[in-house]
Formats: sequence, structure tokens, C-alpha cells
Amino acid sequence: MKVALAYSGGLDTTVLCRWLKENYRAEVITVTVDVGQPTDFGVIEERAYVAGASKHYHVDARDKFVDEFVSRDILFNGLYEGEYPLSTALSRYPIAEEVARIALREGCDAVAHGCTGKGNDQLRMDASLSYFLPDDVKIIAPVREQNWSRDWEVEYALSRGLPIGVKESRFSIDENVWGRSVEGAELEDPWTGPPWEAFKWVRPPSEWPDEPEEFVIRFEAGLPAALDGKKMRLREMIEELNMRLGRHGYGLIDHIEDRAIGLKSREVYEAPAALALIKCHQDLEKMTLPARCLRFKASVDREWTELVYAGLWYHTLREALDRFVDELEKSVSGEVRLTLEKGSVRISGRRADKSLYVKDLITYSAGSLFDQRHSEGFSSIWSLEVKLHKLMQERGYRQAKRKNE
Ligand code: ARG
Repeated sequence: MKVALAYSGGLDTTVLCRWLKENYRAEVITVTVDVGQPTDFGVIEERAYVAGASKHYHVDARDKFVDEFVSRDILFNGLYEGEYPLSTALSRYPIAEEVARIALREGCDAVAHGCTGKGNDQLRMDASLSYFLPDDVKIIAPVREQNWSRDWEVEYALSRGLPIGVKESRFSIDENVWGRSVEGAELEDPWTGPPWEAFKWVRPPSEWPDEPEEFVIRFEAGLPAALDGKKMRLREMIEELNMRLGRHGYGLIDHIEDRAIGLKSREVYEAPAALALIKCHQDLEKMTLPARCLRFKASVDREWTELVYAGLWYHTLREALDRFVDELEKSVSGEVRLTLEKGSVRISGRRADKSLYVKDLITYSAGSLFDQRHSEGFSSIWSLEVKLHKLMQERGYRQAKRKNE
């Protein structure tokens, strides 16, 4: 049997690699997909071979991740339950796609991943792998199937002399360019606040600059195109914003999240660029889209966000929503100015190429193009519903009075 293993180099997948070899006598091909996690990929490759891999692939999917997945999150203002910019969720799709591609190329009989049965990642990996792979290629997830515990895994690794790496942090961290998810240790108690050492981009108050700082982000058709007048690739801009916005203490999220499988979990994230870009994008949409479109799009955004969170990227509905939003976003071009100060961010200005905000209409000064007199008839008809309500109440009152007499 030949198995392609989605390999991160962590404890789960390292144990998994050896276990597949021992239990299935499988030939294991490890695949590590780079989505911007801060990892020494040389070390990962060595570890894969020590764990028993017969072949190892390293795939740089950083630009694919940003251009095909992260960019869509900006267009859909994708914040799950209003808070989480889907950083981990989005990364699972290019990982699954690359692993499936290699499994097909290598003629594998199965694909393995290290997801547990408690999270959302299993749904994202299983659904995406099954989209790319024919039915006769099995998907196996031994951590879930065998109900492994961390203690069992450590014991297994030690007994086989597997390198499990020195832990730099007591937290379990999933990182990519779009955000860092921090879990475990004391954070499992939702009342305990995260210590500053859990974060990398967002700095503690003692390091915040005294002066506020302004950033101008230019969007073209809904996507960030330039920062402070300098054109740059989206990935480059996100990397720069994570550092520069984080310096001011901005970008933390701490919330109770509803996993797709029904569990509630306490989640801590840092995502300065994601939060700021979505905020700016939303602001620019308000300058460029009619109210009716904004209201309708809010429900589209939510639907899209829930699909992506719950593992259903490769769904007809997601594809159809994508086409709808591409059409609307054509007019979302312009600039938004952000002011960062002492842990907070606020939008301090915006201008759009095709703005629906027309100063000559809204102005209170003389010479406004809006003739107020036309509103008289409109406003009196608008009152009709309230007048009818009053009529009903009065009728009810009179009837009651008559009965009592
Ligand atoms: N709750 C988040 C999600 O489901 C982040 C999970 C991060 N941790 C992980 N081990 N995948 O997307």
C-alpha cells in the first residue's frame, strides 16, 4: 500500500508516519505544504525520513493560498461569527488540493491526515480530498479512528526514538500569513486571559508607539492593491501590515466559537492585517454599493463564511456566490485611510473612484442639488403606516369602551 500523508512535522503527523508504516506496512510519501507557517522546512524533511517516509515533497503554496483563498475572504468580509477571519480554515483547502495532486501523481492507494475528531479541520480535509480524489483512493485519519491521546503519542514517539522537536511554546499554534490561532494550556479556561508571550505580531502596551500612525490602502475591484501609494502584491502587503499594525497593539481576537460539529470552544487569534483589511473593505463598499446591495450582500457574506468554515469550499453554492460577488465588486475601488493608536484602529477617511456619496446632494449649504420640497409628499406617504397603526389602536379602544358601557 502506498499512502500520501499531509505532513506538518508536528507530533501527530510524525507519529502517524511511523504508525502507517508499522500497521499497514505502507510506503509513506510525506507532503508538506507551505502556506506561510514559520517552519524550518529542512528540519521537517529530515524528520519525515527519520519517521519512515520513503519520499518527501515540499510545496510552496503561499501565493496560491493568498491569491485564490485569502483574497476571497476580503471580498466576502469573511469573519466567522463576526470575529474570526478564517485563517486556519482557508489554509486547509490548498493543503488538501496539493496533497491530492501528489497522491494522484504517485499512484497512491490512500491519503492520510492527522486531524482529530473534535475539530473542523477533519471536515475541511475530508470534503476537499474527496472532491479531488477518485472513490477508490481511501482517506484515513488514524488520530480520529484510533482515538489517540497526546500522552499516547508522546510515549509512542519516545519508544521509537522519533524526533518530536523541542516545543518553543506551551501553546498549540497554527500559523499562516492570514493569522495565528493559539490554543491549549491555560487558554482552555475561557476566563483566563492570554499572556503577551502567546503573540508574535501584536505587541504589549510597553512597546506601543506614542504617536498615532496613518495607513492608506488602495483597493481595486474589492482587492487591496497598494499601501501608502506603493503598489504591492497582496501577500507582501499582508506580511507588512501584520508587523506594522501589530506594533500598535492591534489585531487580537478572543471569542467563544461554535465548531461545525456542535462543540463550543474558546479561540484566541491574532490577525492584524486580516481585521484591518476587512474593515477597510467594508467601509469602501459603503461608499460604492447601494444600500439594497449592501443589505443583500451581508447575507451572502455570512453564507459564504459559514460554508468555508464548515469545510465546504468545493460546493456549488460557494462557486455561485463567488460569481455574484465578483460582479458587485467591480465598482469597489478607491482608498481608505486607517489611523492606528494605542491598541485601537479607526477609519479616518475614504474616497472612491465611483462614489455613491455625492457631496452636492447631501450638503446643508446653499446650492445643494437636492430640492427638499420634493420630500414633503414622500414623507407624508411614509407616515401612512404609523397613521394606520394609530387608527387600529383607536378602534380597539372604542370597541372596548362600548363593551364596558
Ligand atoms: N477554530 C479555528 C478553526 O477551526 C482554528 C483552529 C486552529 N487549530 C488547529 N489545530 N487547527 O478554523
